[in-house]
Amino acid sequence: MDRQRRAARILIASVFVAGLAFADANTPSPLRAARWLPVDRQQQALTQEPSECLAPATDAKLAQRIAIGRAAFRTPLLLGGQAARAGLACNSCHRNGRGNPDFAFPGLSGAPGTADVTSSLMSSHRGDGRSNPVAIPDLSGAASALKISREPSSRALETFIHGLIVEEFDGPEPTAATLDGLASYVRALSPTSCPSNAQRSIRLGNMLSDTRAATLAAQASLTAKDPATARLMLASARSMLGLIDERYATAATAHDRDGLREADRELAQIQAAIDSKAANGSLRLTAWLAAMPRWVSPLERDEALSLFNAERLKQMAAN
Ligand code: HEC
Repeated sequence: MDRQRRAARILIASVFVAGLAFADANTPSPLRAARWLPVDRQQQALTQEPSECLAPATDAKLAQRIAIGRAAFRTPLLLGGQAARAGLACNSCHRNGRGNPDFAFPGLSGAPGTADVTSSLMSSHRGDGRSNPVAIPDLSGAASALKISREPSSRALETFIHGLIVEEFDGPEPTAATLDGLASYVRALSPTSCPSNAQRSIRLGNMLSDTRAATLAAQASLTAKDPATARLMLASARSMLGLIDERYATAATAHDRDGLREADRELAQIQAAIDSKAANGSLRLTAWLAAMPRWVSPLERDEALSLFNAERLKQMAAN
């Protein structure tokens, strides 16, 4: 490991400790995203998210490709390495495909809302040893504001995203379906598809529907005989379960996590079954989806007691 890489490792380690500071320097936030949010912006940014400007797919095949990309966009496992360890996904910087005016990752950001994507912190390929953070763009912004052509025939978007994953973030080579999915998802983000509300509350229901969508994308990938993509889709479903789990890290809701964790273990076992080429992965996913209501209902019942509730989150930060 050269000096820059070693320095990056140390910095990441310190982010884990220092970044856990939450409002009060001694109270670690159970929410991972607090690590890259300035203290004074955490309450807002952890309870509200920008709305997604996603154009509806014109046919079922495209819908499937977008679903794969949308799920890949939301798991740190796509990026691998340091980013995965820190919990960073595409979605951390481009929240719901938009920007993130609050993003402040020590060593990676300058002013909030910027990131250095040629940083040696995350990459052994692109690190230029200089700090040059730039504003994180809204991927659903007007075409005139974007640098990379969305034109499918140019493949510029695929080339750019591939470079981001394997060079910028030192991630593993994405499968063809994953790269195609990410480009399809980004192309489907459009300023003309924004809902009327610019922001929405972060809710259990949305995370559950993302979990379900990722699981269905895994199943479709198995049907398409693409186990590697299926595996990533399950990683995305599991990332989502992790985001739900941390919202129930209060004394009143601790029990609700049991069923959630069991559901996560089952997904991990299905991943292992896929790795060992077992043929029953799809069937097990059908059973897993059918069993969701069992562990979802206590979560729904107690959502107001959990850290999805802005007041609870504030109380926790004040303690
Ligand atoms: C650490 C924050 C961060 C992460 C994580 C991140 N990006 Fe970005 N992204 C940026 C920044 C900053 C830019 C602007 C770079 C520039 O202008 O040179 C950018 C630019 C882009 C662009 C080009 C936008 C344009 O102008 O056309 C695309 C597309 C994109 N990112 C997609 C992704 C995808 C897909 C992922 C996950 C594989 C991802 N980003 C992960 C910060 C991030």
